[in-house]
Amino acid sequence: MSVAPCSELDEEVLEEQQLEEHGLHFELSRRRFMQAASAFSAAAAVGVPATALAAPVDAEQKRAITLKINGKAQPLTLDTRTSLLDALRENLDMTGTKKGCDHGQCGACTVLVDGRRVNSCLTLAFAAEGAEITTIEGLSKVPEPKEVGDLHPMQAAFLEHDGYQCGYCTPGQICSAVAAVEEQKRGEISIVSWHTGKTDHPEMTDDEIRERMSGNICRCGAYPNIVAAVRAVSRGVSA
Ligand code: FES
Ligand code: FES
Repeated sequence: MSVAPCSELDEEVLEEQQLEEHGLHFELSRRRFMQAASAFSAAAAVGVPATALAAPVDAEQKRAITLKINGKAQPLTLDTRTSLLDALRENLDMTGTKKGCDHGQCGACTVLVDGRRVNSCLTLAFAAEGAEITTIEGLSKVPEPKEVGDLHPMQAAFLEHDGYQCGYCTPGQICSAVAAVEEQKRGEISIVSWHTGKTDHPEMTDDEIRERMSGNICRCGAYPNIVAAVRAVSRGVSA
């Protein structure tokens, strides 16, 4: 016998009874599914990550990890979703690496992982476990440089060519430039090499430098001097 529901709750109970009668019991009813979907949609609309609803941060999410940074083992206990950038800045107080956009768009957070440049804001700390991580603090020839000669040649070139104004983008620019020069030395091509047809060990022309450094944004517009610094190092004419 069918009974007309008199409330939303009755309707839901009836719906579940009917499903069970037909051997179709689901843990998540249609109504509950719609309620969950609405909550996720509302969260997305106001910018709350859906994962924040699905998995609240608690001690269960934390794990021990050892990161090798600038040649030193750094044991940490981190939430498994921590970015490498936050691990450096918030957990290790290594604030040389900068947070600009936190979305992989500005390059301020660039560090080297096994010699390759990465946006540390897009890299999970746990994904970098076991790798050699180099930050701006670890580039110089000595741990605490006192004079220009103690600096990495790219750092010295940025100084010499005035490759910065406010300096916020500079650690990322320098780490990126170090890797860009190495990429060119290995013969890796860019879209400029492709367009110019110089795909067999391309030269580090200014266009190549601009293209290879295009992931690093400078709000101060110090680009001409940044290009000059990278050009000097790539031609071996810097300190
Ligand atoms: S902070 Fe990582 S790319 Fe902008
Ligand atoms: S020097 Fe200011 S953002 Fe590049």
